[in-house]
Amino acid sequence: MKSLFYLPFWFSKAKFSGSKRPLQTVLFISDKCNLTCKHCTVYQLKNPHIKTYEQVKEELEYSYHLGSRFVDFEGGEPTLWHDGDKDLNSLIRLAKAIGFYSTTITTNAQMPFTNSEADSIWVSLDGLGDFHDEIRGKGAFERLVKNIAAANHPELSVNMVINSQNYTSVEETIEFAKTNPHIQSISLNFHTPYEGTEDLFLDWDKRSEVIDLIIQKKKAGYPIMNSVSGLKLMKHNQFKKQCWVSNFILSDGTRLAECPGSTAGVCDQCGFSMAGEMHSVFNLKPDTILAGMKLRM
Ligand SMILES: C[S@@+](CC[C@H](N)C(=O)[O-])C[C@H]1O[C@@H](n2cnc3c(N)ncnc32)[C@H](O)[C@@H]1O
Ligand code: SF4
Repeated sequence: MKSLFYLPFWFSKAKFSGSKRPLQTVLFISDKCNLTCKHCTVYQLKNPHIKTYEQVKEELEYSYHLGSRFVDFEGGEPTLWHDGDKDLNSLIRLAKAIGFYSTTITTNAQMPFTNSEADSIWVSLDGLGDFHDEIRGKGAFERLVKNIAAANHPELSVNMVINSQNYTSVEETIEFAKTNPHIQSISLNFHTPYEGTEDLFLDWDKRSEVIDLIIQKKKAGYPIMNSVSGLKLMKHNQFKKQCWVSNFILSDGTRLAECPGSTAGVCDQCGFSMAGEMHSVFNLKPDTILAGMKLRM
């Protein structure tokens, strides 16, 4: 309910007074992981950073004071996190106590998360069956299906990162999201070619074809989170980015006022759908505003 008042306040300050205060925080609590996905440059196998409860508390308070009211706990794999008797749910309760309106976790769903107290859960799903396993490792798809069924969380969505290996699985993955009773919706993103993963970048012509397919599915009523306006922008990526809408705090404690993609120099090839969605919101596209409200409330 509080977000009903805060969102228009935040938006009018950003749109009309040029304020650049973050709305959301992407907080990497560790870079330890139980998978080694082909497209990922985040995980650390040797000597991973694992934040303490106190460090996360300080980072949450810092982000709250910047103006952020939504937090996404990221990693590495956030469900692996603990500090003594504190676990991921302890961080969720902490964020709520500080004043965050909503908490999200992004997980690979390889570990059970039946007791998660997060308001919403994003599960990374990179295609059906072998497509997913080709990127994430053998057995990963089966474990994901089992764990999302066991969790039966009321606000669980999946997030697909489309790349040169899995783009032919997009349609069946959208179908799967519609028919699986434990999935509310699907968000579609494209691979961002961080150093060492350039071969997974999907060329622009294929990307455009895939976007046309997604738009067709969206218009046919499939539960696709992306807006049509945002999707169209992702075809060419030539638009002003509003990446300061989220502040990022990396596993090593680095605090960034915007997405790490800008320091990595990959913005021109960015595949994060949020970039297009944010540009459309600031250009007052009704379909994107509606999609954003749905996500945030
Ligand atoms: C880094 S992971 C951390 C959370 C968790 N381990 C998981 O896999 O969901 C967060 C999200 O970033 C996505 N991701 C990783 N590398 C990416 C890349 N190069 N381009 C686009 N998305 C990427 C993952 O697929 C996942 O959905
Ligand atoms: S599960 Fe997540 S953090 Fe781990 S390697 Fe895969 S994308 Fe990276």
